[in-house]
Amino acid sequence: MPEADISKVEKNYYTDQPQKNEAFFLKGCNNYDWGFKNRLGRIFNCESGRTVMLAFDHGYFQGPTTGLERPDITILPLAPYADALMLTRGILRSLIPPSLAKATVLRASGGPSILKELSNEHIAMNMEDAVRVNACAVATQVFVGGENETQSVMNLTNLVDAGNRVGMPVLGVTAVGKDMVRDAKYIRLATRMCAELGAAVVKTYFVPEFETVTAACPVPIVIAGGRKLPELDALKMAYEAIQQGAAGVDMGRNIFQSEAPVAMIKAVRKVVHDNMKPEQAFELFLAHANLKRHKA
Ligand code: 5RP
Repeated sequence: MPEADISKVEKNYYTDQPQKNEAFFLKGCNNYDWGFKNRLGRIFNCESGRTVMLAFDHGYFQGPTTGLERPDITILPLAPYADALMLTRGILRSLIPPSLAKATVLRASGGPSILKELSNEHIAMNMEDAVRVNACAVATQVFVGGENETQSVMNLTNLVDAGNRVGMPVLGVTAVGKDMVRDAKYIRLATRMCAELGAAVVKTYFVPEFETVTAACPVPIVIAGGRKLPELDALKMAYEAIQQGAAGVDMGRNIFQSEAPVAMIKAVRKVVHDNMKPEQAFELFLAHANLKRHKA
């Protein structure tokens, strides 16, 4: 029992200061519950409204991807510079120290390997397990126009229903199959579908006219890096995406396959959080990487 409130100091109810009722900082996310918003607030930096998510979930369908043969050696040194880690629960439990206070986004879908039809995914994780490991979001892929389009859409909606029950945001990932055109018309369709079907955040690829993609999507969009580019090109892509309304990056190969991954993630942070021009961020990359200019 606390002791009785017998302070002689006059109580102050600050009656001249109305209680603030601020909107949540992420677009389209104001009507979620506290835990849901708190999770999003751990992924996205509330100052910049953006995130640098480090994606290294590739092994869930392609095994030990180049640069991910030993995530304990190649990824752990990068983790301090990421706002969030996108990974599988297997790598989380086996290699990521629980003391690492980073937001995590768990890959929740799986099934086929690179040897089979990739769109034939199912939800491969129980929501209870995501809560158990204190994840901040879960992710599944939607194969719009793909062979198993409807199945992948149902994966998303089932995950959203399960997530809403416990306050867990879902990251909808727009997959681009081998035969699908990667242009603004397609990406607008796929990202908008993810948002309409309940994804709190959408991950997609950067394309020309990206501002129409972000404008038509009512929730935050983060871009995947895609295949490895020269560092300056990857920084230019991140810059363009941010300037055209992206809320961050969810980048993998362009960071962990870089010649100097720590220098690269630091440079990406500058572009994402500080609007640094790509050329200037590239200079920083070179300085931190100690590489010769022609090598990048
Ligand atoms: C595909 C994913 C990956 O996380 C992803 O594509 C991000 O990595 P990269 O920047 O290497 O494209 O969602 O399964």
